[in-house]
Formats: sequence, structure tokens, C-alpha cells
Amino acid sequence: MCGIVGYIGKGNVYDILIKGLHRLEYRGYDSAGIALVDKDGKLKVYKTKGKVSNLEDYCQDKNTEAGAGIAHTRWATHGEPSDKNAHPHYSEDGNLALVHNGTIENYKILKDALEQHGCKFQSETDTEVLVQLIEYIKVKNNCSLADAVREAMNQVVGAYAIAVVEKDKPDTIIAARKSSPLVIGIGDDETFLASDATPFVEYTKDVVYLKDEEIAIIKQGEPLKVLTLDNRESKIDVTTLELSISQLEKGGYPHFMLKEIFEQPDTLRDCIRGRIIDGGGKINISGLNDNKEKFCEAKRIVIVACGTSWHAALLGKYLIQDMCRIPVEVEYASEFRYSNPVLDDKDVVIAISQSGETADTLAAAKIAREMGAFVFGISNSVGSSIPRETDSGTYIHVGPEIGVASTKAFTGQVMVLTLLALGIAQMRNTMDEAKIKEIGREVLHIPEYVQEVLKLNDTIERLSLIYTYARNFLYLGRGYSYPVALEGALKLKEISYIHAEGYPAAEMKHGPIALIDAEMPSVIIAPQDHLYEKIVSNVQQVKARGGNIIAIVTKGDTVIRNIADHVLEVPELPECLTPIITSIPLQLLSYYIAINKGKDVDMPRNLAKSVTVE
Ligand code: G6P
Repeated sequence: MCGIVGYIGKGNVYDILIKGLHRLEYRGYDSAGIALVDKDGKLKVYKTKGKVSNLEDYCQDKNTEAGAGIAHTRWATHGEPSDKNAHPHYSEDGNLALVHNGTIENYKILKDALEQHGCKFQSETDTEVLVQLIEYIKVKNNCSLADAVREAMNQVVGAYAIAVVEKDKPDTIIAARKSSPLVIGIGDDETFLASDATPFVEYTKDVVYLKDEEIAIIKQGEPLKVLTLDNRESKIDVTTLELSISQLEKGGYPHFMLKEIFEQPDTLRDCIRGRIIDGGGKINISGLNDNKEKFCEAKRIVIVACGTSWHAALLGKYLIQDMCRIPVEVEYASEFRYSNPVLDDKDVVIAISQSGETADTLAAAKIAREMGAFVFGISNSVGSSIPRETDSGTYIHVGPEIGVASTKAFTGQVMVLTLLALGIAQMRNTMDEAKIKEIGREVLHIPEYVQEVLKLNDTIERLSLIYTYARNFLYLGRGYSYPVALEGALKLKEISYIHAEGYPAAEMKHGPIALIDAEMPSVIIAPQDHLYEKIVSNVQQVKARGGNIIAIVTKGDTVIRNIADHVLEVPELPECLTPIITSIPLQLLSYYIAINKGKDVDMPRNLAKSVTVE
């Protein structure tokens, strides 16, 4: 949700910033821009609507020489995507340029006040108010840029990660954050800043995660200085990044999404590693072991998440309720945070977020903590906000996910939730030890089962050609396959822009059945489980109304094979493990349909990977 990057140092500022923007493009690609301060103190701002490649074209004949610079890739909130609304924004006198990720809630009040002082605005954004306010304070108080930023941020309500540069100061960048991420990379005589560490991973592994309401003063040739909004100097914690450049490249695949789908045997292996011991009989998740009491005494578990993570959360409910006999509620974080929730210290709240930065999930986690609940985070991004703002938690360890449509993070989240459910069941004694061991042993083989499912790739690619131009799809499942249906429908919507609805198969007859005809394919997830006979009836109901059916079934299925138009077989596994393997054919189906339609699967329109605004 907007990406910002900054650089000061001996390297080629323009090249480093553009490369950084490409890495952050997953956060938004409505427009891109760059501000460069050259050695003579001139401030140059170039910005265009569209992707970073448009900005590169635009800058081809421009002077890009610089000592420091900041850059931005935008996901529009206030004001349509346009050259004018693109960042960086600059102060009316052209003295400052600023990039911003977040939303300023009181921008209208601040804007009105500045207009009364004669200030003229160029754009429709909330961001422009920040740069105008900072410059106004700077001139009025005749103070340094850092002091003006500090005073301005004390007046601002909302979320922000900002970076500001000043004409005549090719050696300084001032940055600040609240509720939007910002990380600083400390190199050898050079300093980077960005929304995440991906823009500078090849230059330095030494990073400082700026905390809420902190201001960083980055000055070439001087050590980094961090102040709080009330002007106290903060202690600087340098941590070492565990990220490699190969994780950020496509590795021979045409798209990150396909790479990430095919990586799943490895990512699941990484996710499981060390977490099942004694040949499958013992679950070992440190965040769980360290908080045994909290989970043993929990009277209820509430899971909060958004998007794909919410689908994983729903599976978490099925898993935990089934294995641990604890009531579980699943809430959209955006609803939960404003629902006046009832929570106390006997509740455990699980916050799931791939990025660890989703604004609603983060806010929900904070509220739950304030109300006394024990909050456990499940994230992929080490050092992100949710792991830092929760009482305890665990990582899914699937490596950086770049494709905007989540794939390997979903299966990683489901895997961790499965292990968590098994671990809690073991602690609470709600499941037979032999059963835990049986499932645990199968979990160890999940990477091989996933490898087998990926062999369906060519079949699914051919199948996708038949349905590329369908205008609507229905995805149906029951029990553990219902959240899989929701996730399958979401994947198709996100990247192919085909309307798709996920539904509990039995509920279909209360509405969606009216839509069924030969034009609308139904994807039915129907592995062998305790609801198999029930879903066979639903398959028949669709067929009886002339619908076309793509069914995901267990290897050797003969009943649905005779009814459905197409079947995709997956290996037989214990019921609770089927979602991991049944979701993979759906990822591939949506990928190929989107490719057939010529869509940009890694950067689908209007979406962003990390949603740091409400
Ligand atoms: C965005 C992404 C989705 C993701 C959701 C929640 O909408 O496009 O892929 O599932 O945010 O993100 P999180 O990082 O919290 O899992």
C-alpha cells in the first residue's frame, strides 16, 4: 500500500531508487515518482501515472545526478491516479519534497488552516498537506527540517511513513513513521530507507526498524540519529536481516505467482521443519510451548485477519474446534476493531497476517491486547509490526511472497494452524495420542504430496482454455473444503477479474442455484471426507441444472468422476490436511485463466499486497 524508498551515499542514487521501487511495486502501482537533490543543491522531482517502468521512460532524457533522493510507488487513496497526485509532493516554494505511505485523517482541517495562511495546493491528496505543513513550520519557526517534521507530526492524526528531502541539502534525509512500516538499512558510508528491506538487501544486512512516532535523521558521514516525537533521543537497535536476493527474483519462472505456487513443496518443508518431533508424535512450536497455560486455560479463541489470511483463519476455526474442543470465532479484522468486542484475559486472540503490516489486523491485535486478551501473531514477515505488537507468536517461514495474489503464504498459514491445533490438542488432551502421531507423520510427507499435485499443472493449463471466457464461476465446498472454495474464488477474482463466488455447497440451494446454467462453471472441492456423500448430492444438483463441473477429488474416486465434466485428482490424506493440497489446483486454474486473458497476474489492477490503510 504505497512503497517508499530513500538513499543517500556514494552509489548512483537514481539507479538504486528505481531498482528499489521495482521491488516495492507489489505495494501499489498507480503512479511512481522520484525526488533528487543534486550536489549543487537543486531539487528535481519527476513523477508519472502508471508503473515504475513509465517513470523510467519519463526520466530517460532527464538529469538524474544526485547526492540523495527519495522515491514512491503509489496505491491511490485520496485522489485518482494521475501525474498530479503522484508522489513526491513538494512545498509551494519548491524547498521540500516528501513521499508518504499511510493516510492522514485530519488532512482537511490542516489543509483549511494552511489555505487560510495563503498556501496553495496542487493535488487532491492528503499527503500534500504534510509537506506544506512542514515547510510552513520551518519558515515560521526558522528551524531545522528535523524540528519542523517533529512539530508537524505532533499535529497529524493518522498513519504515516514519510521521507523528506530539502533543496540545498544533498546530504540529508529526514524520515518518520507511525502505524506504517519504515526500515533503515545501514551500509558502508551509505544509508537506505524503505517500506521493507527488499530494496537494499544486496547492499546491507544491518537494519533498524523505526518505531511508531520516531523520527530518523539520516545525514551522510554521520551516525544515524533517532528522536521521538517529544524530542528524546532513542536507542538504536541494529538487527541482521535474514533475506537473500535470490528470494526476490523470479528464478526462471515467467511470474512470481507461478514461482511461488511451485515453491510450495520447499516452503512447506521450511514451515514444518523442527516443528514435529518424535516421528510425528510431538508438536514443537516455541510460541505455543512458552505459553502453555494461556492455551490450556483459554475459554475461547478469536481469530482476526483479512483477505486470504481470513480464509486461513476460517480453516483455523475448523481445525482448532475439531481437535481442541475450544469455541473459535473468526472475524474480519476491519469489522472486529469497530464492533465493540467482548474480550477478557481468558480469551486468546490469534492475528494472522502474511505481511504483518495490514492496518486493520494490527489495530485488531492492539485492541485485543488492551482488553486483556493474550494475543498470538502468525506472520511471514520477520520484524514486521504484528510480531512486534503481539504477546507471542510464530512465523510461517515461507520466504518473501511477491505475487500480489497470495499462494504459498496461504498454505503456510494453514500448515501452521494445523500444527497449532495439534499442539493445543496435545496440551489439552483432547485428542488421542495415536491419532496425533498419525496426522503428524502425514504432515512430514506434505511436501511430497504437494509435489504430486503440482504434476496437474499441464492438465490445468489445458483445462483453463475451456473456461477462460466464462463470466461467472461458483466455487463450492463443505467442511474443511468450504474455506478452500472461498480462497479459490478469491484467487480467480483477484487476477482474472472474473466474478466468482465461494459458497458452502449445501447453502447453494438457498440462492446461487438460481444462477446455474451451461454458461456458469462450478468448481467443487470434494475430497474423500466425512461429508463426501453429502457433497455428491450437491454435485448432482448442479449437474441436474445443466451446470458444468470441475471437481477436485481424491485419487481413485469413481462416483464424482462419472458426474463431473472434469476431475482433478489429489492424493488421499487425513481430512484435516486436505485443504493444503486441494487449494493448489485452484491456484493454478486462476493463474492460467488470467494468463489466457492477458492479465498481469503479479500486479492485478487496483490491488496491493500490503494494505497499510483502513
Ligand atoms: C491484501 C492482499 C491479500 C492479503 C490481504 C491480507 O488484500 O492482496 O493477498 O491476503 O491483503 O494481507 P496480510 O498481509 O495481512 O495477510
